[in-house]
Amino acid sequence: MIKRLYRCVTLFFTLLSIGACSQVPISPPQTPSALDPHGPAAARLAELWWVMFGFGAAIFLLVIALLFAALLRGRRGTSDTVPDRASLDTGRNWPIWGGIVLPLIVIGIVFGYNIYTLAAVENPFGKPAVKIEVVGRRWWWEVKYPEQSVITANEIHIPVGVPVQIQLQSADVIHSFWVPELHGKMDLIPTRINKIVLQADQTGVYRGECAEFCGLQHAHMGLMVVAEKKADFDNWINAQKQPAVAPTDQIAQQGQQVFMSAGCVFCHTVRGLEDKEIDRSSVDLGPDLTHLDSRLTIAGASLTKNRGNLAGWIVDAQHVKPGSLMPNIYISSEDLQALLAYLETLH
Ligand code: CUA
Repeated sequence: MIKRLYRCVTLFFTLLSIGACSQVPISPPQTPSALDPHGPAAARLAELWWVMFGFGAAIFLLVIALLFAALLRGRRGTSDTVPDRASLDTGRNWPIWGGIVLPLIVIGIVFGYNIYTLAAVENPFGKPAVKIEVVGRRWWWEVKYPEQSVITANEIHIPVGVPVQIQLQSADVIHSFWVPELHGKMDLIPTRINKIVLQADQTGVYRGECAEFCGLQHAHMGLMVVAEKKADFDNWINAQKQPAVAPTDQIAQQGQQVFMSAGCVFCHTVRGLEDKEIDRSSVDLGPDLTHLDSRLTIAGASLTKNRGNLAGWIVDAQHVKPGSLMPNIYISSEDLQALLAYLETLH
């Protein structure tokens, strides 16, 4: 009996922790949990979770104990027993104390603690060191550093140990930005701008997810937050600012021509690759690929970035993410290899 109960409790908590994880194949492997905080905001929220869990567990145990007490008392008594006046009064008081006073006290404490936590998370830790704009799109994240003139996708780099402001907007429907180890969820609402302040206490890669159902590929709308030392962050920013270097290798040059002729260039920007004949109005439909090869993942963090996944994504994107704007590209295997060689030059 005890063993079975233990197994049930273990299963319950495993399922509970999975709730904070992603539904997609994770790449690189990670199991982000809101109960494993790596930043001050996430730490406050985890603390709140434990306080609420503590109250919930205490009340659950109290109810079970009272239930057993009532059962045992029922067994001892007989139908002939006539309750005296004092026990009748106690019986009448139970609903008042247990049903009104106790819940009001508990809910009052939890409500107060909630307000305190929200205020602490909302107004955190001084002036942000970096400002980042994130635009939610079906189904990927556009990431801009306006002060540094950097645009990238599905990957946010931040300096460790300092607050970073994230300004959230949506280009289409409601999404929700959630990096469980760093912060709570914040919605991206069309026509509105929401802001949160992220801070990572340790260097590392933290996985984020879209946490609001936004259509067919909602579960494949992930992102990576890379928290790094200030010097590494500065190097990354400087590298991202640069336009793409023209390929010198002959196959990569051929691949660049494929990139232009196969239609990639109509939806994806590669800075430094200018073609005056392109209609630029649709060029931001897909992620900016200027530094694609510097990223950890592709396809809204649903695939690790490597040559095999990139090839699969190019020729059969509709199998990987049915319904996404990325069409299957029909090109010869020779052209595909050349295109991959070109994309690998986009460091
Ligand atoms: Cu975007 Cu769910």
